[in-house]
Amino acid sequence: MLNGKRIVLGVTGGIAAYKSVELLRLLTKAGAEVHVVMTRSATEFVGPLTFQALSGNPVHTDLFNLYQESEIGHISLADGADLVVVAPATANLIGKVANGIADDLLTTTIMATKAPVLFAPAMNVNMFENPIYRANEHRLEEHGYHFVEPATGELACGWEGKGKLPDPSYLFDRAAALLHPADLQGERIVITAGPTREEIDPVRYVSNYSSGRMGYAIAEAAVRRGAEVVLISGPTALAPPTGVKLVAVQSAKQMHDAVMAAVDKASVVIKAAAVADYRPAERAESKVKKGGREAWQLELEKNPDILAALGAMKKEWLLVGFAAETDDLIANARKKLEQKNLDLIVANDVTCADAGFDVETNIVRFLFRDGKVEELPKMTKLEVAHSLLDRIIGLKQGG
Ligand code: CTP
Repeated sequence: MLNGKRIVLGVTGGIAAYKSVELLRLLTKAGAEVHVVMTRSATEFVGPLTFQALSGNPVHTDLFNLYQESEIGHISLADGADLVVVAPATANLIGKVANGIADDLLTTTIMATKAPVLFAPAMNVNMFENPIYRANEHRLEEHGYHFVEPATGELACGWEGKGKLPDPSYLFDRAAALLHPADLQGERIVITAGPTREEIDPVRYVSNYSSGRMGYAIAEAAVRRGAEVVLISGPTALAPPTGVKLVAVQSAKQMHDAVMAAVDKASVVIKAAAVADYRPAERAESKVKKGGREAWQLELEKNPDILAALGAMKKEWLLVGFAAETDDLIANARKKLEQKNLDLIVANDVTCADAGFDVETNIVRFLFRDGKVEELPKMTKLEVAHSLLDRIIGLKQGG
């Protein structure tokens, strides 16, 4: 699955360094070529020989920097990487990178690479909550660096709280999601995103909290992987990803018409939009005045269910829907998958703090036609998008 991928695994000095040995094992087992870079203090926790034996490559440490600089050099490490993962990442390392300090092999490699970088911080809970640390993390996130949230539990320092390095298998999933081959070339994917707005009068509308982030992330992931993408979007504050054809719409009716016009040539249709189920039965031409009324009863009528209509007319394309639920997640999602004749449905419980509308992350489950349910860890929406595209490719290949 990671065949031919070059990963730089950075290890910094923390008690959790032993877990990165297992992460290395998982990465190499999946076919990745891993080059380990250890900070000086990391070598106090785990010996470089362990990483060397498991990776089959020389381990880079600052101790042998002069020799290695002439042999390999940090620039070729940085240039050749498809991904850099730092696990565990100390507050010190993150602070250095956030402030442009490159004073050892690992920080230099991180700053010189154009590959995605994933940090897995592990530290004392008070350090993790320190506003200086938080600001450093935030700054790096704004520059496109990726972070794995630490797990909560008993910490090596004796404190209880957030700061533990998560399980290696979880770190592996997050790393794998950031590696994307150009495996969607030739696919034409229609994606809907965002809310719809149903006008009451020229100044008011009925809508929902959808930010459009999930659909835009899928569009971005798909276009990066070589697909031709039409993104049909309700009103959002997001810039469309480069290379995507954007069709901007307002109402569910407009979205319906735009989708029907685009699907003819599609090979995959993904409906991530939060379509308003109802619209005002009548749209007033002028602003509705209060006129002394104490209450206002708004009559709503049903919008077309775009996804159900697609399911009913199903062509060769693969049809993917979303289910935003507050109760009975799996049962409700399964019902939608069957009723709307879908190949796959992405279910998310929108009551979770880190899932659903208007947040950067999502916690989803994939439900397939054959009854299979796959539960994913908390990921950024871009990572969820790549995982979804991986499953779509799997379905297309008959898997
Ligand atoms: N959907 C659609 N058109 C609608 C309503 C929903 O295409 N009028 C699509 C959404 O884009 C999503 C899926 O149907 O992919 C499920 O949407 P959701 O809001 O979770 O559920 P509903 O089908 O609207 O059902 P309910 O409101 O009863 O949960």
